[in-house]
Amino acid sequence: MACVDQIEVFGGARLAGEVRVAGAKNSALKLMAAALLAPGRSVITNVPRITDIAIMAEVLSRLGCTVDFVDDGDGSAPVREVVIDVPERPGTEADYDLVRRLRASIAVLGPLLARCGYVRVAHPGGDAIGSRGLDMHVAGLARMGADITGEHGFVIASAAGGLRGATIWLDFPSVGATENLLMAAVLAKGVTEIDNAAREPEIVDICDMLTAMGARIEGAGTSTLRIEGVPALRPVTHAAIGDRIVAGTWAYGAAMTRGDVTVTGIDPGFLDVALDKLITAGCDVHKEQNSFRVRMDARPRSVDVVTLPYPGFATDLLPMAIGLASVSEGASLITENIFDGRFMFVNEMARLGADIKTDGHHAVVRGRERLSGAPVRATDIRAGAGLVIAGLCAEGVTQVGHVHHIDRGYPNFVADLRALGVEVRRVAGPEEIDY
Ligand code: EPU
Repeated sequence: MACVDQIEVFGGARLAGEVRVAGAKNSALKLMAAALLAPGRSVITNVPRITDIAIMAEVLSRLGCTVDFVDDGDGSAPVREVVIDVPERPGTEADYDLVRRLRASIAVLGPLLARCGYVRVAHPGGDAIGSRGLDMHVAGLARMGADITGEHGFVIASAAGGLRGATIWLDFPSVGATENLLMAAVLAKGVTEIDNAAREPEIVDICDMLTAMGARIEGAGTSTLRIEGVPALRPVTHAAIGDRIVAGTWAYGAAMTRGDVTVTGIDPGFLDVALDKLITAGCDVHKEQNSFRVRMDARPRSVDVVTLPYPGFATDLLPMAIGLASVSEGASLITENIFDGRFMFVNEMARLGADIKTDGHHAVVRGRERLSGAPVRATDIRAGAGLVIAGLCAEGVTQVGHVHHIDRGYPNFVADLRALGVEVRRVAGPEEIDY
């Protein structure tokens, strides 16, 4: 039996005020992996205080790195610095007990293979948002001359004579595959071209760090990355970009609760499509260089949403799009194109009274004036945050269970909600039997 925390949300609330987002989880995790590419002391700043970062620190420690967190506050600040001291000869094995807790551990595959010529990383398997393949990571590394086998749940890659540059066409602009191949290519012999590469801001962030380390990369933020390998890289200090998904969560929260929220610490250009949808829904959106404000004073109008790789609408904001649609006037068609299990959480939304019908990768959502508070359960990071925000639009109390999912990606979530003026608290949940 396990006791898991839950968040209690008191409905009929309105988000109002200012909130600062920390560095992006999906940048900081990969920047930490990129540090493996150079022996010595790299420092990543603006790192969010979340569970996934702690697990990545554990992965790096087990590879022989010394990892220290530096916090200039009272030990509870939402952002920290992480200092990673990488040995001349890092370890080459990442175990299943860590990889199953953090799929992003697979990001050590490319850097370790490039530096050590051998790596053994547990296969992460799927998770609550769907099956998540590795075929593009593997095919790309094989193109660069690696021998790759799978054995006892591990991916084993070796390139005794070193990796060599190659032209790689990705079937799909996968974020993880682009990152792994990029981090392998920076130390390969010759030129690598990755076509149909992912264009997410987090990819540009890694390219910026790698370039500061001495890598030669052209085309960051476009579909074609051209990387000229260099013999060695040097450690650096690099700040992670702001978290666009956390920022988008607050933006949609403001729209759904007829609130007024200013979000700082984020380039609003990372959220162009998501913010444009809010304008169509009737919000007033004002963008500055490193912040934006979303104001809403009426019931949102329904908008259709299609998730796509960046610069399309982010799949990680899908629960927020469903939440918005659930309280909007009219019906919305929401289409998910990235993960096959992303709609799993709609059963929990149905417990809050949302009217959602799914068919394959489409969902039709008919908006309701108000949702109705109920006990629900977070199934993944983004669904968890989405359920809490939906609870703000519900009559009565909503208890969101399994909030350890939210802790994986949202530093300071409850404190931020309180600072935005809503009544919410974290409590120990009932004991549960895991069947
Ligand atoms: N895919 C394959 N084969 C591959 C690689 C990917 O079939 O070799 C498929 C996946 O199964 C999936 C799709 O391609 O259906 C997209 O996967 P991608 O590789 O782009 O995603 P990822 O690297 O696994 C990252 C983020 C996710 C985010 C996606 C899409 C990290 C740690 N994770 O995952 O973030 O949803 O990109 O933007 O960067 C989250 O933060 O909550 C989260 C799930």
